[in-house]
Amino acid sequence: MATSRAQQLAFAGLQTARVAFYGAHYLAARLAGRESFSAIEKTEHPVPSLATMARAMTELFAQDWKNAEAGLYPAPLNILKEARRALASIDYLRDIPEVVNRQKRHGHSEAMAKAAQDKKLPRYFQQNFHYQTGGYLSEDSAKIYDFQVEALFAGTAEAMRRRAYVPIAEYLEGRDPAKATLLDIGAGTGRFLSFVKSVQPELNVTALDLSAPYLARAKRALRHATRTKFIEAAAEDMPLKDASVDIAVSIYLFHELPPKVRAAAAKEIARVLKPGGLFILADTIQYGDAPEFDGLIDAFPELLHEPYYKTYARTDLAKLFGGVKHAGDDVAYLTKISVFEKPKRNSRKR
Ligand SMILES: C[S@@+](CC[C@H](N)C(=O)[O-])C[C@H]1O[C@@H](n2cnc3c(N)ncnc32)[C@H](O)[C@@H]1O
Repeated sequence: MATSRAQQLAFAGLQTARVAFYGAHYLAARLAGRESFSAIEKTEHPVPSLATMARAMTELFAQDWKNAEAGLYPAPLNILKEARRALASIDYLRDIPEVVNRQKRHGHSEAMAKAAQDKKLPRYFQQNFHYQTGGYLSEDSAKIYDFQVEALFAGTAEAMRRRAYVPIAEYLEGRDPAKATLLDIGAGTGRFLSFVKSVQPELNVTALDLSAPYLARAKRALRHATRTKFIEAAAEDMPLKDASVDIAVSIYLFHELPPKVRAAAAKEIARVLKPGGLFILADTIQYGDAPEFDGLIDAFPELLHEPYYKTYARTDLAKLFGGVKHAGDDVAYLTKISVFEKPKRNSRKR
């Protein structure tokens, strides 16, 4: 996967265009809901300046490019795909007044009212997380979810997710991907798995999510890929055998789980992983990971309905995932990638 100077310039141009495009959409949402954004002025820690954020974004993209240059994945330069994804702009913009309306009245139980008959879904899940229309329970929500995430992070979400692939690439080095399994827990619409399969087409991957519409979207995104499975289930009760997974990954799920569910899901991960298996947690940075962004951690759950975020931001992750061994962290702008390994079985003492 050799890269050239022309590709590097194209990469820089594309990422700049993405930041401008998605950042403008975030700004539109912010202007429409400016009353709710007074939360930003009341944070305990200072909110970073635009210059600080721009510097951190530049570092994120510089590392992304280095990873592509090192051959971990092809340079992300699929402009046609980007253009197709950008078309969701219309639906995103159309939805802003509804989101703002919910923000103003702290409305987060519409999804629950709609799904009231659905006894199989836990209550904590039936909320309008991020004040998004339909919560995780509608096809329309699944359709614009990725655009919303990209706008929220001003065009950096894909690059942050790609960083979660780095320890996976290292783990797979020297192994046959056709004999390895990767489970994405809370896979959403399959964004990360689509990327993984574009780099590792032989890897056996499973998308697990509680949302039927999001999982349907993931199926659609991965329709041309082979060796894929889709499971509609809860992270805290996975219908998978003990020690059956080589690599488990979970991206932006754990901050949305109530503390008890978080602990149950963490236990499940340790159970389904094979000894010697790898677990990658990619989620929000926590307090102190990047102190200049602590003010954003204060503001985030106030701006968007995130009922469990505050406790997550102070959770001891090594303790939470006590069944697997913490092997290190990597901070990629606003996302922390934590690596865990399930210890190999102890050789019997003589
Ligand atoms: C913030 S989204 C993250 C989606 C995706 N991983 C990404 O990178 O954007 C959280 C996802 O987790 C799913 N989810 C929430 N609670 C869950 C649970 N207890 N078990 C499985 N999936 C869950 C939601 O349906 C949603 O798709």
